[in-house]
Amino acid sequence: MKNIKTKIYHKLINNKLSYNTKSMSRYKKNNDKTENSSKKDKIHHLEKLKKQINSIRNCDLKNNATNMVFADGNNDASIMIIGEGPGANEDKEGKPFVGRAGKLLDKMLEAIKLDRKKVYISNVVNFRPPENRKPTDDEIKRYLPFLIRHIELINPKILLLLGSTALNALIGSEVVISKARGKWIKKKIGNVSPNIIISFHPAYLMRQPDQKKYAWEDLKMIRKKISELKI
Ligand code: URA
Repeated sequence: MKNIKTKIYHKLINNKLSYNTKSMSRYKKNNDKTENSSKKDKIHHLEKLKKQINSIRNCDLKNNATNMVFADGNNDASIMIIGEGPGANEDKEGKPFVGRAGKLLDKMLEAIKLDRKKVYISNVVNFRPPENRKPTDDEIKRYLPFLIRHIELINPKILLLLGSTALNALIGSEVVISKARGKWIKKKIGNVSPNIIISFHPAYLMRQPDQKKYAWEDLKMIRKKISELKI
């Protein structure tokens, strides 16, 4: 009889609450809420950005492409990687770095124990340049405000620029990649200030495998920065 009464009593007062002996912090609850709403805001703003890019008009890149290639990976990542522009495979799948260069990028990331699902990847332009040509200066200029907004929204601690197109778009056209790679640059991009490092594009490394040793040095610098920043 006593047992039955105790059971009913516990049901009435919600036994989940009565057995939880952990102290509850009202502040923590609010922090969680703020974090959740800022995550929702980020998703909302990223969706908005995606729509803005997709509604671009009179653009040869967009007119010739099959799909927009916005980004891939974790939008909460501390590491963001920027390539040049989608190739044929990326255009088909609507995802960056899924072709041969993408496979090499995956291997490069694995070499420093980074899973591509844990980083965030995008490109300077979001539509495939026909015949895999480089995007023109005008095209880069046109997409730059979107790229800057994209970086602001992700707000990465580390920004890896792959190849001269990303370097020239975000750092300046007067610098050559062989001089710019392998160093940390602190530069404001929009309203954020990530630690920026430039390295060779995987497509270039496939053509020039003797340059892989430099890319390896850059990757090791990233690994070191990850532990310094406790990412
Ligand atoms: N090369 C790039 O720069 N970006 C891609 O998404 C694929 C290949």
